[in-house]
Amino acid sequence: MRLAIIGTGAMARYYAKVFDILDPVMVGRHGGPFLLKQGDQITRMTPRFLSWHDAHVSLFDVIILAVKWPAMPLVKQFLRDARQELLVISLMNGMGQEEALIPPLAPEQLMVGVTTDAVTAYWDNQAQLPAARVSAVGQTILPLLPHPLLPLWQKQLQRLNLTSSWKFFSSQAVLRERWIKLIANSVINPLTALANVTNGDLPQLPLWSLSTALIHEATHVAQAIGLSIDDDLSSRLLQLCQATATNKSSMLQDIEQHKVTEIDAINGYIVRMGHDHAIDVSTHQALVHLIHTLSQQK
Ligand SMILES: NC(=O)c1ccc[n+]([C@@H]2O[C@H](COP(=O)([O-])OP(=O)(O)OC[C@H]3O[C@@H](n4cnc5c(N)ncnc54)[C@H](OP(=O)(O)O)[C@@H]3O)[C@@H](O)[C@H]2O)c1
Repeated sequence: MRLAIIGTGAMARYYAKVFDILDPVMVGRHGGPFLLKQGDQITRMTPRFLSWHDAHVSLFDVIILAVKWPAMPLVKQFLRDARQELLVISLMNGMGQEEALIPPLAPEQLMVGVTTDAVTAYWDNQAQLPAARVSAVGQTILPLLPHPLLPLWQKQLQRLNLTSSWKFFSSQAVLRERWIKLIANSVINPLTALANVTNGDLPQLPLWSLSTALIHEATHVAQAIGLSIDDDLSSRLLQLCQATATNKSSMLQDIEQHKVTEIDAINGYIVRMGHDHAIDVSTHQALVHLIHTLSQQK
């Protein structure tokens, strides 16, 4: 199986290690060696690398998308000559992958899932190399799509002993999990970025009171598209902040590093869907505006 990992950041480095025996090719702007730190283990990796310019979609059977949203136009361009046999797996946060990539892909070629794996990219001063630290190995869930390569992909997961962490459910069940993660990200990411705090400090701040309106607006939109999310998301998000207390959210890191954030694919998506269904999403809209303003100031 010819596997490509699109991206060279935190998740891409982690997947390069997880799928090392498949000899994946990383596709991105810059390759080279990096360190992967998981628990006490540090591995130096130098996977095969091709630049966007030199890689061609026909070289691969399966592609894992591990880029941030600003790369989406490049991804779409890269996939424009995709054969019907290609299978693309996206575990990117945010929503809108289907709208962005179908076409050029056919619906059964794009498996959009969700993962609770957590990885942070950093620069290792001692080794003078880019690196990634795995802070949690969680669950990855993907939709069962009628794609001919899916059984082969499941076989590879079996071979790698990943069947208890990579699971397959119906498209509707995965969509519901994606919405739950979307809502969690739509609260924790922008609020920690605005307050410049780690996840654990957020619930102590007056800003946390916005979480009630954010959850209410987003679950209302989810209901309008036929998803019933009756879980107690307030308590779940509070627990998530506590369980990841020392983490800096990816949006806060993007702001600190003067990078474009994923706000348009997270809160921005909820705003677009809310407007389509005439639902009040003004708190999400305010956060989109504030994060754009903050990004421009930095
Ligand atoms: N990290 C996690 O724990 C985690 C967990 C679940 C989901 N996710 C999601 O997985 C995706 C990847 O996250 P990550 O943590 O790996 O991000 P990351 O470390 O910031 O890496 C992002 C990758 O996207 C590329 N990229 C960004 N903007 C680009 C542009 N305009 N043109 C071309 N390439 C661009 C970067 O290239 P350069 O390095 O060249 O800038 C890099 O290869 C995101 O959607 C994230 O929300 C992450």
